[in-house]
Amino acid sequence: MWNFGIPYALKHYLDVIVQPKYLFRYTAQGPVGLALNKRMLVVSARGGDYSADSPYHACDFVEPYLRTVFEFVGISDLTFINAQPLDAGGPQVAESKLIAAEAQARAVAAQWCD
Ligand SMILES: Cc1cc2nc3c(=O)[nH]c(=O)nc-3n(C[C@H](O)[C@H](O)[C@H](O)COP(=O)(O)O)c2cc1C
Repeated sequence: MWNFGIPYALKHYLDVIVQPKYLFRYTAQGPVGLALNKRMLVVSARGGDYSADSPYHACDFVEPYLRTVFEFVGISDLTFINAQPLDAGGPQVAESKLIAAEAQARAVAAQWCD
């Protein structure tokens, strides 16, 4: 997370690939995603804590934005692992949050490889 949103390099990448005829197309019924039958795992790192029970939850523009973009292009099966807080809680909290995120990633991988 950079300034409550995604880093500019990732935004640039999305601007390159999310274009009509690449990842979606316009039809008489409206825009239709072309990235079908896919699932996506998004792993994000945040300095602060924006989890559901945090007072800063509404400031998380990363997950809602990425959900909007990827659902728009047809990927509805989205899983998020948000490692947080990695700065605000100090190194011990960061280490425990990274260990938890890795465990979540391993659980998703095991589920997907079944
Ligand atoms: C330019 C910049 C802006 C940042 N803005 C935020 C922010 O708005 N909220 C937050 O929680 N952390 C913010 N951070 C901290 C990073 O999200 C955090 O350190 C994260 O762990 C970095 O992950 P990385 O080392 O994989 O890039 C910012 C970091 C940078 C460099």
